[in-house]
Amino acid sequence: MMAEDALNFDGKVAIVTGAGGGLGRCHALELARRGAKVVVNDLGGSVDGSGGSSEAAEKVVEEIRTAGGEAVANGSSVTNDDGVAHMVAQTKEAFGGRIDILVNNAGVLRDKSFAKMEMKDFAFVMDVHLMGTVKCTKAVWEIMREQQYGRIVVTSSSSGLYGNFGQSNYGAAKMGVVGFINTLKLEGQKYNIHANALAPVAWTRMTSNLMPPEMEAVWTPESVSPAVVFMCSDAAPNGQIICAGGGAFAAAALVETEGLFLGKEATAEDVAAQWKKISDLASGRPLLHGGEQGAKFAKLMQKA
Ligand code: NAI
Repeated sequence: MMAEDALNFDGKVAIVTGAGGGLGRCHALELARRGAKVVVNDLGGSVDGSGGSSEAAEKVVEEIRTAGGEAVANGSSVTNDDGVAHMVAQTKEAFGGRIDILVNNAGVLRDKSFAKMEMKDFAFVMDVHLMGTVKCTKAVWEIMREQQYGRIVVTSSSSGLYGNFGQSNYGAAKMGVVGFINTLKLEGQKYNIHANALAPVAWTRMTSNLMPPEMEAVWTPESVSPAVVFMCSDAAPNGQIICAGGGAFAAAALVETEGLFLGKEATAEDVAAQWKKISDLASGRPLLHGGEQGAKFAKLMQKA
């Protein structure tokens, strides 16, 4: 049984991006309810990223304060270098210098089949989800290293992990953030910085036109936040992908099969002939870092 206060956030300072509504709002409210001082960031634009005002973030701050918590609003875009720098400076000033938690949640959609997609819409979605996450993380990384503590959450998606029609831009970005934490988990470990990914399912304005209205009561964003709170806590794992929706929770992982050594002279015909065995996921397991792949191949060679 873990210490109960591992899930208490008294004295912790958290930034939640895109927290003016949907999932981010619920993450911010729950972290604040558990004692964290929260910076509620939101650009306040529409689902496709146009427009913007700090009103959405301010409303959530009001909710947190009304419930007895501490929060400040920030209206910066996660894609804007000066805005991100300002968000971090504001956090340090408001809450005494520490930044313990960063939840990268801000996101937009510009769906179209790849054939019809304009490159500017691909680049925009990559910029918000992937580069927005990278910029906010970079801005807190040194602070977390110095204080020898940090919890970073990135928001992935089943669309990135497995694919979804019309979302090549979004999917690429959502897998990109997983690639990002795969290295952060290694570089942050000795500083007690843990980085994990969320793959949520929730009825929000982003998904409301994809789900029938009666699903609103089933896929509540509130039911996803416990996974985020866990990833923000002292008890957080490192480098994991947690899937959460409607009260169900799962872990996702990239696995690699054991593989076959076919010899240095192996031909494409050999690969085609052995493909069933090579790709048999029954032997699949996750690797802890890229170097394990070569080590595994070297072992196969030795065994041959
Ligand atoms: P939402 O549209 O309600 O929330 C996204 C928030 O991010 C909005 O409040 C928006 O104003 C803000 N935002 C957008 N661009 C921003 C920027 N440049 N800087 C700061 N804030 C910005 O949608 P939802 O569903 O709550 O999405 C939250 C995250 O979860 C997103 O990253 C989304 O891609 C991801 N997600 C959601 C799923 C779902 O089922 N709702 C499924 C998989 C992933």
